[in-house]
Amino acid sequence: MKKLFLNSSKAFFIILFSSIIHVNADEIFIKGKEVFLEAGNCAACHTLSDAGSNVNIGPNLNEIRPDIQRIIMAVRNGIGVMPAMEGILSDEEIEAVAYYVSLSAEQ
Ligand code: HEC
Repeated sequence: MKKLFLNSSKAFFIILFSSIIHVNADEIFIKGKEVFLEAGNCAACHTLSDAGSNVNIGPNLNEIRPDIQRIIMAVRNGIGVMPAMEGILSDEEIEAVAYYVSLSAEQ
């Protein structure tokens, strides 16, 4: 089970980084911010200073500083009361928002 998980997450990184290489990383950051504020509605539940959101229904992202893989898992599958977004957001949108959050949460 653990091995399977590692393999599929490796595949994810390959997909993620190959899409980043083909598209300008700044564009993905900007797209991810849009998803955070709009389609993904993340700002309705999470504090993230770069996005100007200050809501604490979910954990403060500047405090937990999640890595890309943790964000993708949470957004795809949902966690606790956070709804799963697979099927609501495209893979591209999920990758973009994960990229955006992982970078901007560090600030
Ligand atoms: C309806 C409110 C809500 C929305 C919308 C929401 N979240 Fe969450 N999120 C939560 C809650 C609540 C938790 C904590 C769940 C738990 O640990 O039980 C959480 C947890 C997380 C975590 C931590 C996961 C972990 O492994 O601990 C990340 C990262 C995250 N959310 C990112 C996002 C992103 C990115 C979006 C937008 C695509 C989003 N959330 C939308 C409420 C929300």
